[in-house]
Amino acid sequence: MIISFMTARGKTHSVLVIHGPNLNLLGRRETGIYGKKSLKEINNDILALAGDLGIDVKTLQLNSEGDIVEAIQKDDYDALIINPAAYTHTSIAIRDAIAAVEKPALEVHLSNIHKREDFRRKSYIAEVAVGQISGFGPESYLLALRAVKTIISR
Ligand code: DQA
Repeated sequence: MIISFMTARGKTHSVLVIHGPNLNLLGRRETGIYGKKSLKEINNDILALAGDLGIDVKTLQLNSEGDIVEAIQKDDYDALIINPAAYTHTSIAIRDAIAAVEKPALEVHLSNIHKREDFRRKSYIAEVAVGQISGFGPESYLLALRAVKTIISR
């Protein structure tokens, strides 16, 4: 059964999911760390859960920092789920774009970034995110989607 999730104005909530650089290689990239699921399989799982939750989801995979900034600025979504990948640790531009649009943003990582190299422990995104979900493999995205539903229904 699909229960459609509407806002007070009768509009279905929309969530933008952004996968950052190199995540197009999931399934064959460092599988010991990131697992064997391809991005397509992960997106299918996200879309299936979104259907169950009654949320419209658009997924994008972008390798360039500027493209990510532009997608965030487009502002055609109610909430953002973002795995900024390596830009997590470097990008003030992505951080500032998230702060500028003032939409709830959840930061997602497949691996536990706090358990790896020191340089991965710093996230510029965490400061502007509602929260961070890190270390649950592809399930991190699904946990984020459930959390987003709670946040946007407040
Ligand atoms: C990642 C963690 C980052 O440190 C790394 O650069 C990635 C993927 C993750 O999902 O675990 O590309 O964001």
